[in-house]
Amino acid sequence: MEQKIAYPFSFFIGKINNCSMLVKRKWWKEVVVYQLYPRSFKDTNGDGIGDLKGIIEKLDYIKSLGIDVVWMNPVYESPNDDMGYDISDYRAIMQQFGTMEDFDVLLNGLHDRGIKLIMDLVVNHTSDEHEWFKESKKSRDNPYRNYYHWWDAERGKPPYRWSIFDEQSSAWKYDAATSSYYLHIFSEKQPDLNWENPQVRSEVYDMMKFWMDKGIDGFRMDVITCISKDIAFPELPKGMAVSDWFPYYAKGPHLHAYLNEMHREVFSGYDCMNVGEASGVSIDDALLFVDEDRNELQTFYHFEHTGFGISKDNFMYVDDTNRDLVEWKNIFLRWDNVFAEKGWGTIYLGNHDMSRMTSRFGNDSDRYRELSAKMLHTFLLSMRATPYIYNGDEIGMTNTNHTSIDAYEDLYTINYYNQLRNNGGDYEGFLRSHAAISRDNGRTPMQWNSSTHAGFTTGRPWLAVNKNYTTVNVEEQETRSDSVLNYFRNMIQLRKSNLTLVYGKFELIDENNKQIFSYTRQLDNQKLLVVLNFSDREARLKSDVDISGAHVLISNYVKPLGIDLYRPYEAVIYKIIKNQ
Ligand code: GLC
Ligand code: CA
Repeated sequence: MEQKIAYPFSFFIGKINNCSMLVKRKWWKEVVVYQLYPRSFKDTNGDGIGDLKGIIEKLDYIKSLGIDVVWMNPVYESPNDDMGYDISDYRAIMQQFGTMEDFDVLLNGLHDRGIKLIMDLVVNHTSDEHEWFKESKKSRDNPYRNYYHWWDAERGKPPYRWSIFDEQSSAWKYDAATSSYYLHIFSEKQPDLNWENPQVRSEVYDMMKFWMDKGIDGFRMDVITCISKDIAFPELPKGMAVSDWFPYYAKGPHLHAYLNEMHREVFSGYDCMNVGEASGVSIDDALLFVDEDRNELQTFYHFEHTGFGISKDNFMYVDDTNRDLVEWKNIFLRWDNVFAEKGWGTIYLGNHDMSRMTSRFGNDSDRYRELSAKMLHTFLLSMRATPYIYNGDEIGMTNTNHTSIDAYEDLYTINYYNQLRNNGGDYEGFLRSHAAISRDNGRTPMQWNSSTHAGFTTGRPWLAVNKNYTTVNVEEQETRSDSVLNYFRNMIQLRKSNLTLVYGKFELIDENNKQIFSYTRQLDNQKLLVVLNFSDREARLKSDVDISGAHVLISNYVKPLGIDLYRPYEAVIYKIIKNQ
């Protein structure tokens, strides 16, 4: 069995070699990933924007969490129409963030501390300010013309394509210089690259090798299922729900061929990890992407559990009031089953595109904020999948819930609002609903301490700090052994010292319980029982698992009751004693 990382808990390895595990051991299945949003992490020069030097300053903090891998959101040169997801130079560092020298210091600083770095790979589109696009739009016979998707105006208007970031909701933008439309699934400043063109693919692979050769440890692959699309651009069927449009945008005919080629050209040459952002992938085709024998991706993340409650006809609306925990649990069960023997999953509850996990899936009231954040960390770190924890969630940061458009920086929110306003839509209703799921909720600056702007900057932050920073901040939580931060650290250590939490078989307990999410994890003779009360009321667990004599490995209340009664947001992991 492969073993490349030197683990502090390597005494487990001998044991595990004879275990009944069906999947292969790999280091990237055993790591805990910390997602870091550079713009909001730490500013060192007072311009209100987080920078690489800020991350360098916080390296010891990052190390102290116990995480193994940092996924850093894009830091490449970009005009920031979509906060770095519109790249104008793949081989340069955004000036606001620092220099390539800073980047090297950061990478070495992470490696010196035994932490790996994965970077964002944004190759469905570039910025319209990228040299390739500047050339491409010059003339129809420019050598770069075929780097993008153009539709000549004499063919008539191109078939409608929706764009979630466009003020007119149209993914085709007319460009008078060559009397053609170009495709942009995202904003008009994010033209889609034409992956049918082998030159585009080889440029991308070269760029990836440039970063891999610098020593990074892999990539998080932005909207990777969109790189291949039906370039005949057929008309969308009338009346189809937005959520059914994926086949027209993503998972095109050559997707698997491209991923396979990328594996051969790049990934196969390095001991690295990758994770694709996989919009539109379902349990039915999941293994086509991550079955090791197919040589495509290692892992991806899907949206089934985070999309739950969000309107299928319009991604801007959410109704979380009646989230049915039973259905939600089943999503995790189904995804766990898919990867039980092949492939491998990921788990996350928040990222830079989402609201804060504590607000959305826990409870951000003063009474339950800490308890529910700890409960969610217990969940993330006890499932059979590689966990991704978004910065700020380690201290239970919460949503800002803004209902005034002036508070927003994200083009996603602003453009949709403008669209509704211009067309007489219900823009106020939109803001009310969107307050709960807007991306800016997850992008507010990291709360380091209780000084002005939470110690994030000495200047004016690019996005206002959440008002609760005086009570919710790292410095305060460092002083308390019962803080979310210290619970998170303990939970990571627990996962790392129990391979059962990584590889153990997952079985739902009391699956129809509407308040409790409970499961066992079992590997060989070791069996763990996880009990999580997702509600703000006491709840009873019905289970055959005998917990008398069990050891409590972790708990977010001072002491579990030890009976089948669980208090609001209570989380417990028991180690069940053998031969029961
Ligand atoms: C992904 C990113 C998101 C970005 C979009 C377009 O979904 O996570 O932040 O806006 O792709 O690149
Ligand atoms: Ca700065």
